[in-house]
Amino acid sequence: MSTCILLVGNKILVVVFFLKKGFKKPRSLLSLNRVASKVKEIEKDLSHLSDTKNRWVPTINNRDASNSNYIVKRSQDLANISRSLDEEDLVGVDKNREKLEEWLEGDDLDYSVIALLGMGGLGKTALAANVYKKEREKFQCHAWVSISQTYSREDVMRNIIKELFKDNVSVLSSTLSMDIMSLEETVKKYLEQRKYLIILDDVWTYEAFYDLSRMFVHNDKGSRVMLTTRDAHVAALASGGRILTLEALPEDKAWDLFCKKAFPSDTNHQCPTEMKPSSMEIVSKCKGLPLAIVSVGSMLRVREKTVEEWRRINDQLGWEIINNSRLDHIRNVLHLSFIYLPTYLKSCFLYCSLFPEDYHFKRKQLVRLWTAEGFIEERGESTLEEVAECYLKELVDRNMLQLVERNSFDRMKKFRMHDLVRELAIDLCKKNCFGVSYEDQCGGSLEMDGRRLVLHKLKKDIQQPFSNMHQLRTVITLGDSKSSFTLLPLLCNESRYLTVLELSGLPIEKIPDAIGDLFNLRYLGLRDSKVKKLPKSVEKLSNLLTLDLFESDIHELPSGIVKLKKLRHLFAERVFDRTGRDFKCLSGVHIPNGLGNLTNLQTLQSLAAQDESLRHLGVLRQMRSLRLWNVKGIYCGLISESLVHMRYLSYLEVNASDENEVLLLNVCLPSLQNLVLRGRLAEGALDESPLFQAVGGQNLYALSLLWSQLREEPLPSLSRLSNLTRLEFSKAYNGEQLTFLAGWFPMLKILFLRDLPNVSRLEIAEGAMASLEKLFLVNLSSMTEVPPGIEFLLPLQYLTFREITNDLFTSLCQCSAIQGKWRYTLRD
Ligand SMILES: *[C@@H]1O[C@H](CO)[C@@H](O)[C@H](O)[C@H]1NC(C)=O
Ligand SMILES: *[C@@H]1O[C@H](CO)[C@@H](O)[C@H](O)[C@H]1NC(C)=O
Ligand SMILES: *[C@@H]1O[C@H](CO)[C@@H](O)[C@H](O)[C@H]1NC(C)=O
Ligand SMILES: *[C@@H]1O[C@H](CO)[C@@H](O)[C@H](O)[C@H]1NC(C)=O
Ligand SMILES: *[C@@H]1O[C@H](CO)[C@@H](O)[C@H](O)[C@H]1NC(C)=O
Ligand SMILES: *[C@@H]1O[C@H](CO)[C@@H](O)[C@H](O)[C@H]1NC(C)=O
Ligand SMILES: *[C@@H]1O[C@H](CO)[C@@H](O)[C@H](O)[C@H]1NC(C)=O
Ligand SMILES: *[C@@H]1O[C@H](CO)[C@@H](O)[C@H](O)[C@H]1NC(C)=O
Ligand SMILES: *[C@@H]1O[C@H](CO)[C@@H](O)[C@H](O)[C@H]1NC(C)=O
Repeated sequence: MSTCILLVGNKILVVVFFLKKGFKKPRSLLSLNRVASKVKEIEKDLSHLSDTKNRWVPTINNRDASNSNYIVKRSQDLANISRSLDEEDLVGVDKNREKLEEWLEGDDLDYSVIALLGMGGLGKTALAANVYKKEREKFQCHAWVSISQTYSREDVMRNIIKELFKDNVSVLSSTLSMDIMSLEETVKKYLEQRKYLIILDDVWTYEAFYDLSRMFVHNDKGSRVMLTTRDAHVAALASGGRILTLEALPEDKAWDLFCKKAFPSDTNHQCPTEMKPSSMEIVSKCKGLPLAIVSVGSMLRVREKTVEEWRRINDQLGWEIINNSRLDHIRNVLHLSFIYLPTYLKSCFLYCSLFPEDYHFKRKQLVRLWTAEGFIEERGESTLEEVAECYLKELVDRNMLQLVERNSFDRMKKFRMHDLVRELAIDLCKKNCFGVSYEDQCGGSLEMDGRRLVLHKLKKDIQQPFSNMHQLRTVITLGDSKSSFTLLPLLCNESRYLTVLELSGLPIEKIPDAIGDLFNLRYLGLRDSKVKKLPKSVEKLSNLLTLDLFESDIHELPSGIVKLKKLRHLFAERVFDRTGRDFKCLSGVHIPNGLGNLTNLQTLQSLAAQDESLRHLGVLRQMRSLRLWNVKGIYCGLISESLVHMRYLSYLEVNASDENEVLLLNVCLPSLQNLVLRGRLAEGALDESPLFQAVGGQNLYALSLLWSQLREEPLPSLSRLSNLTRLEFSKAYNGEQLTFLAGWFPMLKILFLRDLPNVSRLEIAEGAMASLEKLFLVNLSSMTEVPPGIEFLLPLQYLTFREITNDLFTSLCQCSAIQGKWRYTLRD
């Protein structure tokens, strides 16, 4: 457990949170702990809040009364501020307002619940207040209560009564002495007869709503309850999809709002030309959050309007957000979101803030890092990686991370953290000695006080030892870097408790022997480095979970690798041709005797196939993601037998050893989602191999056939795989015609056709590929006319022709149906 005291205004806040075991308390915090417990003792007396029942505001620690006190206070301030935002601060909300009005006024007399969803600071409360003001007179009675403001059911009920019976003193005074049951009866009886509108602002948990909903009589008079929330699970309580999700303001709207706030009306809210560059940067840092724009804009209004001053503010915006009292409420908005996070998500969340601004996290990478850090707790039968993915989803649902991209079959793929959220989290990291991130400035000495160090864009080498090296648990370097990281030997000597060492992209050539002494190491990342050989001592890293040598120069692993029995993810692959057009573009590694001992492997990319290693493949039953290189036709039987045992396998890539080796895998893999086959396929394989049959719960979403050299048209057979969302052919087919018939590939989003030299005609019937979003046609050298039926592909967003013939180009220019929708490059 680690405790830290924050001074916010004149309040002392004690944040307590648990970090996963395996952490030691840094010394400097021990004394703080003592202070913290003193503070707690004092506040216990002051606070009657701690024993109130029906608490809906989740607290970090039940014993910690001062916290609930703080939460209530902050929430009250915020609710007040948000509700009283000026009408003029509502920019770009017309569509949303109309939608809400429509749901409130609608003809249907059924009672319904409406939810407004979005991260803190998007203006949910302001919008709700605005609509409430306009619409409430159309209801016979109405009430606005802020849930976060109070945290007991009784308090909420009393607030509702206060609003409902504003004008009826006799009722009000009679309720003062009522118990909770009678209060509920009073409200219920009153609402029963009326068309009512109740706003529940800032609902954090669905229990809160459930508890209250008993009062909301379904009286068929067109009554409405509207709630605002940051949590997608709460919003899901809305009736029949009446969820309005607020988005950040687009750039132009954000700029308008900013100018309105920052520049006085006598200058017509115009930004002076010379201030524009820094103003625009400041606005972009607010990332479309209205509350942030309004607050920062208002702060700037009273500052001196000189270029220097504004540049300074821009440079120090992070500092201002943490330290400037005028920005208290932005900080509080974000801080509350953090406080409300369940303990198990707090470390995961803080971790993300150590990465650079606008960093795009990849799901799998983040999952592996969190797992290695020990943030993930076991849940039932699930693997830690699966649990980590749940954590990730939860952070997205709570709007603490933003989803950037999904893959073709809708799995979350990339994430980012909102800049302002990150600023706040960085501050919390520092205060908790959780970690530090350094950018750009790593010459000379490094001041360190934390267990995790993330270095961005390392330009100069760090030569000198720095303070507290022995405390380091995690070192991560990111971004293009020329430094060969001469610090590494020193780290191996000094930071003996290292858990995560992620040095991808650095031109490191040699790994010191001392690496084997990092007995605690759970993650070693040397992706894209120049390392040719690992020292023998890595066999001592018995806690290693991830070893990432992808795109390094390694082609042979030390034989002791098979002693790393906990290893879950092994990446080792060399790249020769980054375009992937050559047959010999990649190679895997040989794993010597004993592959069968690595029974925890979930990822193996890529294994160079050999008799010996293949014989033990079937033992690896945890396998999720497997790439096999250098496969000869005669191995296919052995491989098929092994794959049968991998019942979780979701990704499989197989590469033939030679253009003329025939791949034939006769195996049914129900869990397989993504299949890549690179090599000649036997004629008829698509009809015979169970891999391509839509039976046995087969759930193939993505299929790439490369170098298959099929003579018969593959589409009729493949069209049975009706769940495909991505299909790629490259040198897959030697014939002249490809035809997509109506109803085929209804889920397909991406179609990629490349290097099909004989295909001269591609026909698309109306109703084929009805969901297609992206179509790529690359180097189809015989194609001279626009594929007939292309105009039927209505949802198409990207239509790209690369390396096309002049004839096709001419034909495209004349085709009015797809005019202006396509991009192209010509053949050399
Ligand atoms: C909120 O605003 C109302 C009216 O402006 C005021 O009476 C109340 O004290 C304020 N509450 C807080 C917590 O600031
Ligand atoms: C107050 O409410 C009571 C009970 O609903 C009602 O009988 C009474 O007429 C109300 N008084 C006023 C002043 O509206
Ligand atoms: C806030 O101010 C203090 C004191 O000047 C400083 O140490 C701290 O780094 C500032 N916070 C941020 C986030 O810049
Ligand atoms: C690390 O320790 C070894 C053996 O103690 C020593 O030879 C080497 O010079 C040290 N390296 C650094 C960079 O301190
Ligand atoms: C692999 O496991 C076998 C049988 O469990 C054992 O005999 C062998 O020593 C192990 N090999 C290594 C390298 O650990
Ligand atoms: C397939 O395997 C062969 C033999 O290992 C290798 O040379 C070639 O680069 C691989 N091809 C691809 C496309 O990876
Ligand atoms: C498509 O997916 C659904 C749902 O997972 C499954 O029930 C069905 O069998 C799949 N169909 C085919 C043809 O794979
Ligand atoms: C193209 O078609 C011709 C004639 O059918 C055939 O001989 C040739 O192998 C095909 N080319 C390719 C690259 O498949
Ligand atoms: C494009 O296709 C032709 C065959 O039609 C082939 O010769 C050429 O290498 C391909 N281009 C690339 C870049 O692979």
